[in-house]
This record gives sequence, C-alpha cells and structure tokens, in this order.
Amino acid sequence: MLRRLYKDQPASFAFTPANEAWAKGQISKYPAGRQASAIIPLLWRAQEQEGWLTRPAIEHVADMLGMAYIRALEVATFYFMFQLQPVGSVAHIQICGTTSCMICGAEDLVAVAKELIASTPHTLSADGRFSWEEVECLGACANAPMAQIGKDYYEDLTGAKLRELIGRFAKGEVPVPGPQNGRYAAEPIGGLTSLKDFESGRKQYNASAQAAVDLRDTVKRIDGTEVPLSTPWLGMPSVKPAAKPVKAAPKPVAEKPAAKPAPVAKAAEVPAAPKAGGKKPKALKAARKGKADDLKLILGIGPKLELLCNSLGFFHFDQIAEWTEAEIAWVDDNLEGFKGRVSRDKWVVQAKILAAGGSVAEAEAAAKA
Ligand code: FES
Repeated sequence: MLRRLYKDQPASFAFTPANEAWAKGQISKYPAGRQASAIIPLLWRAQEQEGWLTRPAIEHVADMLGMAYIRALEVATFYFMFQLQPVGSVAHIQICGTTSCMICGAEDLVAVAKELIASTPHTLSADGRFSWEEVECLGACANAPMAQIGKDYYEDLTGAKLRELIGRFAKGEVPVPGPQNGRYAAEPIGGLTSLKDFESGRKQYNASAQAAVDLRDTVKRIDGTEVPLSTPWLGMPSVKPAAKPVKAAPKPVAEKPAAKPAPVAKAAEVPAAPKAGGKKPKALKAARKGKADDLKLILGIGPKLELLCNSLGFFHFDQIAEWTEAEIAWVDDNLEGFKGRVSRDKWVVQAKILAAGGSVAEAEAAAKA
C-alpha cells in the first residue's frame, strides 16, 4: 500500500503543555546523541493527541529530536500504526481481516463498516465521526472475528454486534471491550472444561477488559493529564502532573443484560466490582523534610503508582501503615488505572513492616502470605 501524507494539512502543530512535558521526559531516557530513539513514542503521542499524524506534527517531533524531516517521515510512513489521514472524531475502527477472522466472519464486519461509515477504508463518515480500515492479525485470533476500536479490542463479533457497537459509540457511550458473545475471555464457547476453580475467583471482566474499564481511555484523545510519566533519573517528580483536573472520559458501559443470557456468561456468579466510597486518608502537602520514602519498596508499587501516591499526598510508609479499612477502600478506588492494588498487594501490611524498620524481604513475604 502506498502511504502518503494527506492532501490537506493543518498549518501547525503543538503538543499540549502536559504532553510536551511527557515528551521531554521520554527524550531524557536516552543518552546524549541518541535522542532520535524517542521518535516512535513521540509520534505516537502526537497521534494520540490529534487522532492522526499531520505533517506539522511529524516535523515538530523531528525538530524536538534534532532530526532531518526526511528521517522522521521515513518512520511515520513506514509503520501502519501511524494514521496519515484524518480519522473519525469519535472512533477509528480497525477490523482484522486475517485468516481466523476472515473465516469467522470478518467480511460481515467490513460490510457493516462500508454501509454505516464509508464505502472505502481511511475515509471519514459523512458526519466526520467514524472511519475504518482493514488490518492484519491483531493477535486475538481465539476471539475471531474482532476489531480494535480506539485502544481496545472488541472480540467475538458479528455484523449485527458491530452495528450495535457503532450505534452505541455514536450515542456517546463506550461499550465494555472484550468478548461480545458472553465469553469471559478465550475459554471454550461451552464454558471451562478444566481449571474450573478459576471461575469462582475471577473479577467482573477479564484483565484486558477490566483495565480498559479502569483506564477509560478507549476512544479518548490523550492530552497528557492522565497518569504522568515518572522520570526518577531526573529527580522525582521531574515531569509533574498537570495542574488542571483530568477530564474523565465516558465510562465504559456494559450492554443491558439480554433477555436470555448467553450460556457461558453466568453473570449472577460473577463477583460484584468493589464499590466506590470509603474515607480519604490524611494526606501531606509534601514529603516531611523534603524526603519521601521509597514507596517502590512495597511489592506492587512501581514508579507510576509511586508518583500517583505522591500526587494524592502519600509519601511515607507510616502514612500507609495507618490506613483503616475505609481509607484502604478510598485509595483503592482512587488509583486511576490501578484500582484495587492496595488490598490486592497488602500495602498496609507491608508498610507496617517497612515503617518499623523491617526488611523488604519480610514485607514481600508478608504480602505473599
Ligand atoms: S486473525 Fe484476526 S486477530 Fe488474528
């Protein structure tokens, strides 16, 4: 396929201030003289912000990295993940047309996209809200046929199901990603035949769908106010969270229960998602004496979660060690993208040990006990 820049280009491009800070953080990962290595994340962030890659965006990224424009253009035009023409303002739908999906009905999906969006791929719908394309295998063959919509996978589709999904996106909803036929993940269509114990302890959605529900950025344009980039090598936090509040994307909404439940859904047996609420623990404006504890010593807390904790006013083991049940519930519910981690990884148990001078090994052992 010939990949060319779009005929109509905007006059200019600029990252949002938060995305600019994020991009500078990415560049700082590479040693002097190797900044060009950051080109793919920067082009990707430009696309996440605008929906597609404009020529001014490609040139802006090249300027940031000290690269010749032709070098940046080579990258942008080589990788199919970069959209070189405008995409729908609501959603761009990427329908897998490779073997498994094609055998299982991808052609029906393409027919629906042609009917509802545009007769040719990479073309905006009449109202500019949708676009579509056929893509190669997206690695979800066990749930064929499928499509990627925005950042997430919608699997086990039929033409009718895709039609319904497009209708729901058009109304401003974000349907819950994952299998659309009642399957939990990629188990046999008749239900599990082994490892059945797994069924009773599982969450409401499979891990990928649950992450999509928690992150809520399926079709959201990324402006940089999401979980900020952690750059501990520049001193914490060098890429600060944006001052303006994060505008929440529409929450993915599950389809209304069908009159006759699918045989493997067993919705009534699925444990309910944890309820929002609880009580906010006492927070600090800054670390005491300007020196925060290394919260990453708590098993389950990585750089992003540490930065998130700091942004909520939690800097020390002794703060976490004192959280009550209600406070744990509050924090669990307010860790955007990491909900439920406090309980799952027993932060309070670990923090008590670390606050009392115990070792990381002891804290880890307690978390796993
Ligand atoms: S063939 Fe469609 S996801 Fe692999």
